[in-house]
Amino acid sequence: MLQKINEAADYLKRQFAAQPKAGIILGTGLGGLVDEIDIRKSIDYKDIPHFPLSTVEGHSGRMILGTIGGVEIMAMQGRFHYYEGYTMQQVTFPVRVMKRCGIDTLFVSNASGGLNPDFRVGDIMVITDHINMFGTNPLIGPNLKEFGPRFPDMSEVYSKRLIGRAFEIAASEGISLKSGCYVGTTGPTFETPSEYKMFRVLGGDAVGMSTVPEVIVAHHSGMEVFGISIITDSGVPGEIVEVSHEEVQKVAAAAEPLMTRVIKELVAGL
Ligand code: HPA
Repeated sequence: MLQKINEAADYLKRQFAAQPKAGIILGTGLGGLVDEIDIRKSIDYKDIPHFPLSTVEGHSGRMILGTIGGVEIMAMQGRFHYYEGYTMQQVTFPVRVMKRCGIDTLFVSNASGGLNPDFRVGDIMVITDHINMFGTNPLIGPNLKEFGPRFPDMSEVYSKRLIGRAFEIAASEGISLKSGCYVGTTGPTFETPSEYKMFRVLGGDAVGMSTVPEVIVAHHSGMEVFGISIITDSGVPGEIVEVSHEEVQKVAAAAEPLMTRVIKELVAGL
């Protein structure tokens, strides 16, 4: 595993013009951030040693090297979901590669179903904490001590510093942000009304099918993490309507420009 991570990282490092500072996973809602990147190089996942290939509709698979506001970044266009059949190790492989490339800050985004009754469809939620409901953990197995400890502390996974900055940026740009706890589940089914209710009772504000594995691995290796989620549908009793991938993509696309502005400023300020 370590050797594969190193081979992928060595391949990417040869493509750098300068040391990247931040890693970005361009999940749902951040696709438009690509337009803010001064792209120097775009590398197909298939050309990176040992990289999984992405399959799901609406996601492509490329690693983008470039700058945002003068800050060197490395961005994943297309991520790997557990529901696609990848192992947890495959889902989180790129994050380990980023760490090996010297990256210390990770930005992630996703789409989610709202559980908090104060949220509206189209709202943007800064992730302040998560609940891992995948029923597994990407750190199960021999611990890679080169990355972090066997039993990682999880008391502050999402950087309070970056969350604070995000709210400052949003306030100065007149963008309204929510904040809350993201529940990560396997999917690919959306939730039944009873499941939405259960996740709310457990303490969640939003539920989705990604992010938690990558964030666990990033945090394990000491990376500072910032996560943001677009509420694309409601799981609040009385508000639940039929939901589809197309609807999720449509709502996410509408919220994308605001989310992009916040992340762009956050990265530029690193
Ligand atoms: N549940 C799970 N994942 C999601 C949802 C949802 O309601 N919306 C977007 N991703």
